[in-house]
Amino acid sequence: MSSLNSGSSHDIREPETDIARTREILSTDATLERETLFLTDASPNASVERPSAQSFAETTPSGSRFVRACLRRPVDRTPIWLLRQAGRYMPEYMAVRKHHSLLEICRTPDIAAEVTITAAERLGVDAAIIFADLLLPFTPMGLDFEFLAGEGPIVHSPIRSAEQVRALRTDRIDDLSYVARAIEKVATHFAAPRPDGDQLGIIGFCGAPFTLASYMIEGGSSRNYIETKKLMYSDDATWSLLMEKLVRVLVGFAQQQVEAGADVIQIFDSWAGALSVTDYRQYCLAPTTELVRRIQALGVPVIYFGVDTASLLPTMRQTGADVIGLDWRIPLDIGWKAIGEGCAVQGNLDPIALFAPEDVLKSRVLEVLTAANKRPGHIFNLGHGIVPGTPVDNVINVVKWVKEFGAQ
Ligand code: CP3
Repeated sequence: MSSLNSGSSHDIREPETDIARTREILSTDATLERETLFLTDASPNASVERPSAQSFAETTPSGSRFVRACLRRPVDRTPIWLLRQAGRYMPEYMAVRKHHSLLEICRTPDIAAEVTITAAERLGVDAAIIFADLLLPFTPMGLDFEFLAGEGPIVHSPIRSAEQVRALRTDRIDDLSYVARAIEKVATHFAAPRPDGDQLGIIGFCGAPFTLASYMIEGGSSRNYIETKKLMYSDDATWSLLMEKLVRVLVGFAQQQVEAGADVIQIFDSWAGALSVTDYRQYCLAPTTELVRRIQALGVPVIYFGVDTASLLPTMRQTGADVIGLDWRIPLDIGWKAIGEGCAVQGNLDPIALFAPEDVLKSRVLEVLTAANKRPGHIFNLGHGIVPGTPVDNVINVVKWVKEFGAQ
């Protein structure tokens, strides 16, 4: 487990001033800004002072090949885990879902831990992501939501005004501690090294400020993010306050997860690809950088993942995340070049390739491994989550091939 800041989630420092400072540092780096606007090699100089992957590498004696890869340290073979590895494609998950709603599973540590453990063991992957959902922090913030079958999440009173943003609460982070309790159970289960001597990695996660704000404002999934962008463009103070409140809650939530045994935190910015580079820089880079920096200060590496991000990659790298998650649209080596080799990458098989015949699927797996070329700092994953209906045997085959062909 990692070294931690003392203090409970109540006494987390006010992030307002930190975000302002981060924004200042970012905006003074005009050369870097120009250089990283397009798909060029990213500057190796991170723009914000932060505990570097190097300092983690020096202080973390990790026996987990997954954590080692996050830190770009040598590994015996490429580690693998899969986005949405515990989900509706898996009969074991569906059997649990028959008796419990999604939120019941998330909020019951025994069941969330069981679902997490079952998926990791069935697939034989190198890391377990805790079973939870991006939207769980909405409840203690005072925003009611539910999951409707086939429609995804619905927020009952979407945020459309400054008053609603002001009313969002940031003082009830402890209400989320059921996720930490589930992580403790998973950590206990996987405490002993596996037969090959490797320690299974445990991943905690949270949403990024933009992606969470988009659900709060749109009230659910969206195609064009019109309401989100309207608020972003027209009311700077309200947008900033929303970002600050989200960062405050997410840091507290991540802290609980790290204290409970999460080795790494993944930040999902699933819908960042809806933003132009200019808008990402102007409205999202500073709060996201702040979030990354403060989670790293808890003593764990951060994976930062988004979808449809080819043009955003060099800017996403500026958040200082240790690992950038790539979607499947960009060849892994080109994405890695855009990010810069001083950063690890995770990805990036097309999840729909899991429906292909064996020879095609195998060739796509090899393509990803070949593009990574055994450089330190590659974690094999999908470019987005496994979808319902995916044949489990194909998923298991991918894990087998990565173990076979990813040997260093
Ligand atoms: O093993 C795992 O990765 C599962 C844990 C997990 C869930 N949600 C459970 C879940 C994780 C990591 C998430 C993150 C999450 N939640 C994201 C980011 C990941 C991504 O895909 O980019 C997002 C955008 C959400 C919000 C969310 N939750 C949506 C939009 C939906 C509906 C979409 C769908 O697939 O139906 C969910 C529901 C959800 N969360 C499911 C699961 C397994 C499926 C619904 C169910 O089981 O009833």
